[in-house]
Amino acid sequence: MSESADRRIRNDEEDEFGTQLETWRLRMEGALAARLPEAEVVPARLHEAIRYSVLGGGKRIRPALVFATAHAVGLTEDEVEAAACAIELVHVYSLVHDDLPAMDNDDLRRGRPTCHKAYDEATALLVGDALQPLAFQLLAQDPKLPASPAVRLRLIDMLAQAIGTLGMAGGQAIDLAVQGKQLDIGQVEDMHARKTGAVIRASVLMAAECAPSLDPNLYGALSRFANAVGLAFQIQDDLLDVTGDASLLGKATGADSERAKPTHPAVIGIPASQQRVRLLHNQAIHALLPFGERAESLRALAHWLLSRRH
Ligand code: IPE
Ligand code: IPE
Ligand code: MG
Ligand code: MG
Ligand code: MG
Repeated sequence: MSESADRRIRNDEEDEFGTQLETWRLRMEGALAARLPEAEVVPARLHEAIRYSVLGGGKRIRPALVFATAHAVGLTEDEVEAAACAIELVHVYSLVHDDLPAMDNDDLRRGRPTCHKAYDEATALLVGDALQPLAFQLLAQDPKLPASPAVRLRLIDMLAQAIGTLGMAGGQAIDLAVQGKQLDIGQVEDMHARKTGAVIRASVLMAAECAPSLDPNLYGALSRFANAVGLAFQIQDDLLDVTGDASLLGKATGADSERAKPTHPAVIGIPASQQRVRLLHNQAIHALLPFGERAESLRALAHWLLSRRH
């Protein structure tokens, strides 16, 4: 097939997948709204700030990874919905704290004022404090999650590890500690694997964990897929900070260089960073080979992520 014909087919698939992503996004809006305390419940200001931060924005890529993995391992979307909610809640918590003046000090998130701007810093701290236990509560007792107590415990452990000091929180600590410093590209990738890769990895592997009889080789394949996609995702985030459009992104651009963050574009330049993303994308697609057709949603999601502009 010619390269242009191949690209045309890929574009059609991406349009079709855009519709799938939108369906998942709408599904998540309802699923999350139903699991959050109502804004009128005391303490109303905190509950309102929680709903403001969680609802009405975001690409919901991590839930999309959960649903696409469910397709690959033979589960229904219903069976993993609560796990997808738990992951999105910890992701939102990480964004609310990431935007605080003590961290990245950003005013815009998902096209709206950041939580601490719309409310105040103490409320933003508490939103994160509250979203985190709510996520674990869903894994422990959400009635829609048809998991045995052993699987629930394993999901709780996986999410805890993904956001702890060896995962997201540790990665964020490194991110803050290395501002203005020189890192080699291996050190940058280690930071990315923790601060962003770990939660993306958990999105895929927690869905896989919901299918306890999954062949360990397939679990290994998903693990390789998730590592590649997780790292590529943060490299792209850093590229979009340089090359992206703030109105599409819904957050400020140029923020990383302003804070002298050692990102891929800063350390190896834009073309080499784009090349790294393409290589990781190929690794991700290659990892899915043992799944054949069953990984179609995961493959389409990886393709969509490769050309994302927000
Ligand atoms: C932004 O994540 C923070 C990173 C980990 C790079 P997303 O790009 O997934 O943000 P939302 O959820 O769509 O707002
Ligand atoms: C955030 O990375 C990673 C998190 C764990 C939240 P960034 O600081 O680059 O994310 P943005 O660019 O503010 O969304
Ligand atoms: Mg940050
Ligand atoms: Mg930030
Ligand atoms: Mg960023």
